[in-house]
Amino acid sequence: MPKVNSPQFTIEYEDVPSVRESFGLQNPKPTEKVVRVSSSLPDDIPVAQRETSKQVAPKVASKRWLIYGSLGAIALIASIAGAVVSWQIRQAQFSADASSSAETQAATGQDGTTQSRPKGDVILGHYAYKEAAPTDLEVAEGSIRLKRSAAAAYREMVAAASQSGVNIVLISGFRSVADQKHLYFGVKAERGQNAQERAKVSAPPGYSEHHTGYAIDIGDANVPATNLREDFEKTAAFRWMKANAARYSFELSFPKGNEQGVSYEPWHWRYVGDIDSLKTFYKAREN
Ligand code: DAL
Ligand code: ZN
Repeated sequence: MPKVNSPQFTIEYEDVPSVRESFGLQNPKPTEKVVRVSSSLPDDIPVAQRETSKQVAPKVASKRWLIYGSLGAIALIASIAGAVVSWQIRQAQFSADASSSAETQAATGQDGTTQSRPKGDVILGHYAYKEAAPTDLEVAEGSIRLKRSAAAAYREMVAAASQSGVNIVLISGFRSVADQKHLYFGVKAERGQNAQERAKVSAPPGYSEHHTGYAIDIGDANVPATNLREDFEKTAAFRWMKANAARYSFELSFPKGNEQGVSYEPWHWRYVGDIDSLKTFYKAREN
């Protein structure tokens, strides 16, 4: 590597002709650049002073370059800052779009109908419900009780299904908070489930639709093996309910992908055929 030696410096160089010119070298070669500048001055001379002694350009030119350099640096910083700000704005817009689209998805049920998100008094995706007063209940089938309006609609519905050769049976209706306590905590302990796992299939006490007297669990009398199982959806009873339940003001509470995060329950329906039941299931969710 070529070298320039002076009493104070050794310069090894390649590819920077202007530097070599500054040191008075002849015939600069375009491929050369400076790779090392070393000084024979002792190390206890401050670096600033040593570097000053290397400067070869005239003072005026050096000032001009200082101004140009500063302006260039300011322009560079300004353009970087501008790019950062516009990137942040784009990110903020993207986040807003993403959250609003997530909200839309969460608020849209499996069948495309708009539902409200769980809010208010909610535990693990389940809404709080008051236990129906015994005086508001009546037997709907066997010993299973429902609110009067729901019981009447249920009986009418089952009779219509029966006319079509479909045999719907009532597995569960009104449940007290005490019953639900056993179903949630008792079974949870028995199965070694954590609170979230249990809440996917059973509401905590005080948070079950069954407390209202408007909810029903139904089965197909011809296929009892499907009772309270997802494959109940393959039965004639479920197909009939899908096609006809709305005529009797029953709707599926926990369809696939429901916003409450509860497991799909094709057997669990709720009555929404009067103002009290509508308020029970919808009003609290709209606040
Ligand atoms: N199985 C439903 C979620 C309930 O326990 O109310
Ligand atoms: Zn149920």
